[in-house]
Amino acid sequence: MYRSHSCGALNATHINTEVTLAGWVQKSRDKGFMIWVDLRDRYGITQLIFDEQRTDKAVFEKAKSLGREFVIQVKGTVIERESKNPNMATGDIEILVSELTVLNEAMLPPFTIEDETDGGEDIRMKYRYLDIRRNPVKNALLFRHKVAMEVRNYLSELDFCEIETPYLIKSTPEGARDFVVPSRMNQGQFYALPQSPQTFKQLLMVGGMDKYFQIVKCFRDEDLRADRQPEFTQIDCEMAFVEQEDILNVFEGLTRHLLKALKGIEVDQFPRMTYDYAMKTYGNDKPDIRFDMKFGELNAVAQHKDFAVFNSAELVVGIAAPGCASYTRKEIDALIDWVKRPQIGASGMVYVKCEADGTFKSSVDKFYDQDDLKKWADATNAKAGDLILILSGNANKTRAQLSALRMEVATRLGLRKPDEFAPLWVVDFPLLEWDEESGRYHAMHHPFTSPKPEDMKLIETDPGKVRANAYDMVLNGNEIGGGSIRIHDKELQSRMFSLLGFTPEQAEAQFGFLMNAFQFGAPPHGGLAFGLDRLVAILGGQETIRDFIAFPKNNSGRDVMIDAPSAIDEAQLAELHIQLNIAK
Ligand code: AMO
Repeated sequence: MYRSHSCGALNATHINTEVTLAGWVQKSRDKGFMIWVDLRDRYGITQLIFDEQRTDKAVFEKAKSLGREFVIQVKGTVIERESKNPNMATGDIEILVSELTVLNEAMLPPFTIEDETDGGEDIRMKYRYLDIRRNPVKNALLFRHKVAMEVRNYLSELDFCEIETPYLIKSTPEGARDFVVPSRMNQGQFYALPQSPQTFKQLLMVGGMDKYFQIVKCFRDEDLRADRQPEFTQIDCEMAFVEQEDILNVFEGLTRHLLKALKGIEVDQFPRMTYDYAMKTYGNDKPDIRFDMKFGELNAVAQHKDFAVFNSAELVVGIAAPGCASYTRKEIDALIDWVKRPQIGASGMVYVKCEADGTFKSSVDKFYDQDDLKKWADATNAKAGDLILILSGNANKTRAQLSALRMEVATRLGLRKPDEFAPLWVVDFPLLEWDEESGRYHAMHHPFTSPKPEDMKLIETDPGKVRANAYDMVLNGNEIGGGSIRIHDKELQSRMFSLLGFTPEQAEAQFGFLMNAFQFGAPPHGGLAFGLDRLVAILGGQETIRDFIAFPKNNSGRDVMIDAPSAIDEAQLAELHIQLNIAK
């Protein structure tokens, strides 16, 4: 038996018990006549004591040689500590060690294994197994497990069945590039790793498994950000014989359950917002509604004077930053510089200070009088003490810029509180999105999404106006899930593919299997997928998903620990019939 207890288990009730513990040496303090060692495992830390008087001489000598992260096993007696530590679960006791076995020695770790480490991101990733010994990472992984268990239990109770779908498949278009895998047995042919199990879960509906879910890896070769990994995990779900309302109810129920079970937070019914409203009011389709700062459109009240910048703009729009009228020139300039950064791309910013006495002071006083500015304050819902920030230009670009500014101001003001949760549904997404580059429509969600029946009449005349039965769940400014009611009719699916620019032959070659299945009694169906990594990170109070993934990739898509991707040898390439053609 390696251990009788874990390093987090012992307390005053165990005094005088003989125990065996095993773990890692967190640190040791050698006072000459007395040595204290903090022994750590996943469950906690227990203090060991080696005492020249009471400990066997050989054991005492061995204790002197212990280094950080040595793996040891000790036998000893639980005794009361002289100086207790009320901040530790085991803080009332220590172990007077009688036997010590070094199970494995350890090299000096390249960074300190403490909650606050001195290790930078790169080194922590290279030695991720050491990083996982640290509480913040360990706790993130334990938290992830809890979320996954709650999801599994909740959905199983509702009769959902977890079914695995294959990883070696044919490309599913979800908007990103595929990772591909060459087939040795089928020369010149490739599998694609699934961007999601989308088509398979639809086929499961045709197969009669009317409530499916899967906690599943998905793979997308896309540019990486804090909330994106090339391989990530979805809670993927599908239901048959449902309408949009049924799906929203089930998964709102699940999310509400998670907030209650994991955060102790009760949330009322989630607000619902149309895509159009979200874009107009927050400038994006995943608004953070923990704080206000709604957009106020100012064209009507700002385009009647000689200010050419506004007069020539498609959109003039502002937000009221609460309590920021006291900003100094320097603070305002910092915001202007921020919006002018290439990542945001605004050409400038106009501001209005709403003074406590009800007057206004703006950067465009030359063009606008107090009455004008009062109208701007009304449109942006600005109160005395607020600072109105205004951008103008092309409507789409300006909305995106102001949306970024809104989030930045909220961050600076501490309004994005990690322990506050404001979920919502964004509904009525457009079915299609015009892509300038390819000069054609793309599916905004994916090509299997059903148009709203009432918008079907527009499909030939004004396809851009057709709305879809598609929805996203948004939490604290992040898209944590998205889905749709699907097309289950072969004719409509074919029409959809042709709208997306597929020839009938291409549609048949890529999706013949699905359209074929639709001819064998496909039930009406729909579903959604949550991003598990994102959901866990946000519930954990963070927006970077990396620390909630045991072995994540870096921003270049590399695993620096195992050094992947990497070259493969000639023989392996030959077997796959692959010849590399890389410019030296
Ligand atoms: P979608 O593409 O919206 O929908 O993905 C669902 C959710 O997965 C998460 N997500 C990601 N998380 C981390 N890294 C990534 N690279 C990444 N990409 C997406 C997001 C997102 O909301 N098959 C459809 C679902 C459906 O229609 O049922 C789909 O995959 O949180």
